[in-house]
Amino acid sequence: MRVNVTVNGEPKQADDVWEGESLLFLLRERLGLPGSKNACEQGECGSCTVYLDDTPVCSCLVAAGQVQDREVRTVEGLAEGDRLDPVQEAFVEAGAVQCGFCTPGLVVAAHDLLGRVPRPSDPEIREALAGNLCRCTGYEKILDAVRLAAARKADTEGATR
Ligand code: FES
Ligand code: FES
Repeated sequence: MRVNVTVNGEPKQADDVWEGESLLFLLRERLGLPGSKNACEQGECGSCTVYLDDTPVCSCLVAAGQVQDREVRTVEGLAEGDRLDPVQEAFVEAGAVQCGFCTPGLVVAAHDLLGRVPRPSDPEIREALAGNLCRCTGYEKILDAVRLAAARKADTEGATR
């Protein structure tokens, strides 16, 4: 089948897509977007998280055919040109990355959280990231990164008011 989908604001087309193929495979192998990671391929780890029509999903659990004429935003689409999103910057600055395999999914999940809850409490952060597993860092630096991103965003928004 042919799939037409908007990815990170750009219309994309893929041909000869197998019906059982995942959105994750489509993104990584056909559309050249390797940011979303394939760790478990069964919805357990969150490393493949992307937005589908503004809702975070595990792209390994979404069939490629389901995204026909819809919008997908991946971790690559959060930056604006060369400028990283504040969540991406905060992960770097807080040292919340070791092997980096879980990071794209965590960044998308944290980005979604801060879009809904600008100043989340620690329990809210833990709850929002509960579906994203990291095997390297422990979670304290990841929490630091989300707290830092929330503070940065609040400062930026305060400054522009
Ligand atoms: S690769 Fe999709 S949830 Fe683990
Ligand atoms: S940094 Fe390696 S799995 Fe999270």
